[in-house]
Amino acid sequence: MAKNVIIMGATSGIGEALAVRFAALGCDLAIAGRRADRLQAIASKISSEHNVRVIWSEIDVRREDAPLKISHLASEIGGVDLYIHAAGIGHENVELDPKIEMNTVDTNASGFVRCIDAVVTLLRSQGTGGQIAAISSVAATRGLGASPAYSATKALQAHYLEALRQMVNAKGWDIRITDIRPGFVDTPLLEGKKYPMTLPLPYAADHIVKAILKKKTVAWIDWKYQLLCAAWVCLPKIAWENLPVGFVPFYKPDSGKKAAAKAPDASNPAETPEAPKASAAAAEDKPEGK
Ligand SMILES: NC(=O)c1ccc[n+]([C@@H]2O[C@H](COP(=O)([O-])OP(=O)(O)OC[C@H]3O[C@@H](n4cnc5c(N)ncnc54)[C@H](OP(=O)(O)O)[C@@H]3O)[C@@H](O)[C@H]2O)c1
Repeated sequence: MAKNVIIMGATSGIGEALAVRFAALGCDLAIAGRRADRLQAIASKISSEHNVRVIWSEIDVRREDAPLKISHLASEIGGVDLYIHAAGIGHENVELDPKIEMNTVDTNASGFVRCIDAVVTLLRSQGTGGQIAAISSVAATRGLGASPAYSATKALQAHYLEALRQMVNAKGWDIRITDIRPGFVDTPLLEGKKYPMTLPLPYAADHIVKAILKKKTVAWIDWKYQLLCAAWVCLPKIAWENLPVGFVPFYKPDSGKKAAAKAPDASNPAETPEAPKASAAAAEDKPEGK
């Protein structure tokens, strides 16, 4: 059982839900994200409700000082047993707004690599071993036309984690690497829109905790999305590239009512892309208004 847990991206959604669950398991926490007010409030609530130590640090994964700040958190909490990377953004961007695309690459690709590499180095220097768990997505499975940067950066995350598993195995380092791939989860990332097959946050968070505790290498959240992605992979390139994923008339992510009116069909890949919505905040180089 992990004792000291660092969670990057703990100010809302999946990261916050995981913070509550690991505190309930008796772990001390170090939580991070860009919104200091949220970090302070969450740290104070969790520490009083679960009688564990919770420290926090304002960290932007896009900035070069992120690794140093992670290392300070680790020292302050007395070493890290488990690092969870839940920081990420996701937006549809059919207009290919360059600010949205580049911000997604900076956060989900560069920021991800910056933090994960820093933690691998940290765990090696501690000499105690440990575990890294990152929330990628089912969107890693194939390129999604509605959100090119999001799906491409999630694929980078999944490949990066696989590469690191090969590296630690070859080197004999005692580091476990877990890739969590959820489908739609009801968090602020979806901006209140109704998508097919959306999982309630508590259900998804419980399954993620189980996968982390079991030290799985890859965990799909949940089995329905695993089946769906297996079907996606089987589709030939020509079929996939002509499939209007996210663009079919009865399923428009911009229209929550229309999407909710039709029952989800897990057998139809066109109905279930994990492709979040664009917003004006997406283009801003600052925390989204959530
Ligand atoms: N919700 C879904 O349907 C879904 C499905 C599959 C995968 N995921 C993935 O799960 C992860 C968590 O998403 P969520 O659904 O929980 O969304 P969320 O509620 O919007 O949470 C995102 C978290 O990431 C943090 N973050 C964003 N940019 C950051 C930056 N530059 N530096 C540091 N922290 C940053 C946010 O904190 P601040 O704003 O305070 O910085 C927040 O804590 C993401 O990687 C997302 O792609 C989500």
